[in-house]
Amino acid sequence: MRISVIGCGYLGAVHAACMAKLGHDVVGIDVDEVKISELSSARAPFFEPGLVELLQEVQATGRLAFTTDISAAAGSLVHFICVGTPQKKGENGADMTYVDAAATALLPHLAPGDLVVGKSTVPVGTAARLAQLVKSSEPAAEVVWNPEFLREGHAVSDTLHPDRLVFGVSNGSEDHPAVAILDEVYEAPLAAGAPRLVTDHPTAELVKAAANSFLATKISFINAMAEVCEASGADVTQLADAIGMDDRIGRKFLHAGIGFGGGCLPKDIRAFMARAGELGADQALTFLREVDAINMRRRTRVVELTRELCGGTLLGKRITVLGAAFKPDSDDVRDSPALSIAAQLQLQGAVVTVTDPKALENAAKRFPELQFEPDMHDAISRADALLLLTEWEKYRTMDPYALLSRVESARILDGRNVLDAEKWRAAGWTYRGLGRV
Ligand code: UGA
Repeated sequence: MRISVIGCGYLGAVHAACMAKLGHDVVGIDVDEVKISELSSARAPFFEPGLVELLQEVQATGRLAFTTDISAAAGSLVHFICVGTPQKKGENGADMTYVDAAATALLPHLAPGDLVVGKSTVPVGTAARLAQLVKSSEPAAEVVWNPEFLREGHAVSDTLHPDRLVFGVSNGSEDHPAVAILDEVYEAPLAAGAPRLVTDHPTAELVKAAANSFLATKISFINAMAEVCEASGADVTQLADAIGMDDRIGRKFLHAGIGFGGGCLPKDIRAFMARAGELGADQALTFLREVDAINMRRRTRVVELTRELCGGTLLGKRITVLGAAFKPDSDDVRDSPALSIAAQLQLQGAVVTVTDPKALENAAKRFPELQFEPDMHDAISRADALLLLTEWEKYRTMDPYALLSRVESARILDGRNVLDAEKWRAAGWTYRGLGRV
């Protein structure tokens, strides 16, 4: 099938490559010339495990091309909209500029029977609004909402082997003609057993907002428990292990630490609250305000703990932050809690050095005032305290004995609760976790 993918960022580039891998003829379109030239040479404009290999593999088949020219969408039966919906500046709502621009640019290239398939995370009501726009230009084209659930760091396998597919069609019915077309697009994952649900437009849009809100709530729940554990001398990791054994609760997404960041969860819960407000349902989501507040409190808590760890003052203390990305196996620093903590420490007088295996370039663009050092051993040299803030494998497996001679003072704050506290203490370190003694 001929497919166009509009928007080639973290979502679209992976989606385009995966659609080609599934056997389709794909053109990826983006307004960013640099991104398109990188992708055209089978280079990924961001770090995502397995993406470069996949781009090389599918480009060799001739089934994947990239361009900045939107007219290349003409002739495709399915047009995926994969552009970003960032938070509006100074407001909670989502900035729909890119979605609207993509849809509008597509209009002159639509033919009867075409599907415009939204994958971006959007406020509920967007699909119906875009359907009107599309119909005004091409009455025989359809809009479908097909939310994406991929996680950065696992994006390729999440796209090729999704845990569910949601098709939001205008009448919410199995017999909508778009369903058969999307069944063909996703033939391989469906044959491999991926469950699929056909819904109406608003339900499909809400599935995504609800899923991310639930995940954010789960993380903030355990971080709230971490606050209570800190106040009462309990251990939040053991608490999470114990409650997670109840399979109605589950242990996943119960990792207490510095909280969630990234380009999705923080802005999605805010956009969801803003949209609910517009719909007159704001009371239903006031708890998300608390979820957000608990999450932001983690960052201040880490700054306070670091001050305690450094003997009561941050002034002039050399702090090494291990990890800049919002999560491991990604170079994404959007709303990264690690960087926000690093910047606050620096503001309060500490001399901060940040290291990360992949994200330093992006980090330096956002926080030019911080100092960056790619080599971990150089970064920790003569440090007064280490802060593990993004749990890359290389930081999880650090040898506490080997590092002793490099640092000025053997103090470590484990912002992700991933180190073996006893082992570090036995090696002579002052160890602090979050929500644990
Ligand atoms: C999230 C969702 O997990 C995906 O399902 C969704 O498709 C995606 O957003 C999106 O909307 O596009 P992602 O942002 O890649 O995916 O990252 P997550 O794995 O959800 O992690 C988000 C943040 O929560 C990270 O900062 C992570 O460190 C933090 N986290 C996660 C915790 O602090 N504790 C946990 O137990 C789990």
